[in-house]
Amino acid sequence: PKTAVVGPLVGAVVQGTNSTHFMVFNSKTAELLSHHQVELTQEFPKEGWVEQDPKVILQSVYECIEKTCEKLQELNVDIANIKAIGVSNQRETTVIWDRLTGEPLYNAVVWLDLRTQSTVEILSKKIPGNNNFVKSKTGLPLSTYFSAVKLRWILNNVSQVQKAVKEGRALFGTIDSWLIWSMTGGVNGGIHCTDVTNASRTMLFNIHSLEWDKELCDFFEIPMGILPNVCSSSEIYGLMTTGALEGVPISGCLGDQSAALVGQMCFQEGQAKNTYGTGCFLLCNTGHKCVFSEHGLLTTVAYKLGKDKPVCYALEGSVAIAGAVIRWLRDNLGIIKTSEESEKLAKEVGTSYGCYFIPAFSGLYAPYWEPTARGIICGLTQFTNKSHIAFAALEAICFQTREILDAMNRDCGIPLSHLQVDGGMTNNKVLMQLQADILHIPVIKASMPETTALGAAMAAGAAHGVDVWSLKPEDLSTVMMERFEPQIKATESEIRYSTWKKAVMKSMGWVT
Ligand code: G3P
Repeated sequence: PKTAVVGPLVGAVVQGTNSTHFMVFNSKTAELLSHHQVELTQEFPKEGWVEQDPKVILQSVYECIEKTCEKLQELNVDIANIKAIGVSNQRETTVIWDRLTGEPLYNAVVWLDLRTQSTVEILSKKIPGNNNFVKSKTGLPLSTYFSAVKLRWILNNVSQVQKAVKEGRALFGTIDSWLIWSMTGGVNGGIHCTDVTNASRTMLFNIHSLEWDKELCDFFEIPMGILPNVCSSSEIYGLMTTGALEGVPISGCLGDQSAALVGQMCFQEGQAKNTYGTGCFLLCNTGHKCVFSEHGLLTTVAYKLGKDKPVCYALEGSVAIAGAVIRWLRDNLGIIKTSEESEKLAKEVGTSYGCYFIPAFSGLYAPYWEPTARGIICGLTQFTNKSHIAFAALEAICFQTREILDAMNRDCGIPLSHLQVDGGMTNNKVLMQLQADILHIPVIKASMPETTALGAAMAAGAAHGVDVWSLKPEDLSTVMMERFEPQIKATESEIRYSTWKKAVMKSMGWVT
């Protein structure tokens, strides 16, 4: 007998830099019924280059969907109850593929990739008119982070791509576009689309008109014919054409940070969340207004939840390396075997003993936007051991968050009274306590930790008439909310933070 499941179910793909998840929620209660995760690797073919195989990413999505469906069937849940699928994804990562063969024409160039540093330098000298040309249209600084320069590099350097563009076979997309095109049929009529949140990270999209911008495309020399159709974040894009969920509509699409903002229910102007993943991203909802930062933050599209719904914007503080520094301790230094061990080591010592770790592996993002920075570990003595380094790595995540929170407070004028957090790393209690200590405001962990997936599921359900909008924050109480209060004096956080800033200055100018 099938278990009685109250209300329709909604699935969400969360395609992150380090892993892919598929999660299925009960749309009435937001209860997570089942999920599956696959860890992904990145390729580093040259110093500063970061790539992923688009087919491996796609395969991981299919695997997660199939395994989650198997688990649901073992629980006697009827998968026919899954009425809609949402997609949320690592943003900016750039894919270009052949629409006739369905094959990627090059590896995905990941958002962290630095190969375009010289492209950025050349382009910044060519900016027409005032220096604000790119920022005023896109909300973004000209940086290696965003897709336009990655795409420019591919078009300049990969002959297969040049040929495919000439022959009208090439399609460009961020990961959402690649997945949705493939999942809705690929060479047999796949839908080539993206949503406004993902489009807003390409540096080709005008965040005021919500359209691809001809002047930007001319500036970056990008042929507009290869760009996907831009949709809202909540509408039916197409139907799944294979696997256990064949025929189910894909009806939600959001960049992962936007999805987390929605999943945390930050729908009011001034509400903010910080997500700890590979990087760390603090987004503050600015409502229907585009607010431009004076302090190194980005202006980005937060969401547009339906074709006829208004667009909402956010100010964003982006930190490139957060969870990735713990993975680096595991994979590159080998001083921990699992990410969880970082918490154990840090707890053992409870201090870094004056060791500071600036994980500027991909330069520094907000608020510095400094591509010449590289990682440093400083303040070492013969006493320093791996536990102190683990502590310093966790503390680095907190200091970087402090930098973007300070910038956010300055831009918004009204300081945040607490920080709402989510993402895998929020399970690390040492990290969360440290974060409260360094910000000197309470840190509140989401009642539902899988907010990215929940946000994508909410967008998908809403488009398909599944009424997830009746959910209120208090309904999301399947996991108790956790609150971390500052436990050190404000003067102590200030001293540590100013030493951190001194160390940050030393990380800059390593590459010229
Ligand atoms: O902008 C990059 C961001 O979307 C990556 O997210 O979850 O892989 O850290 P994540």
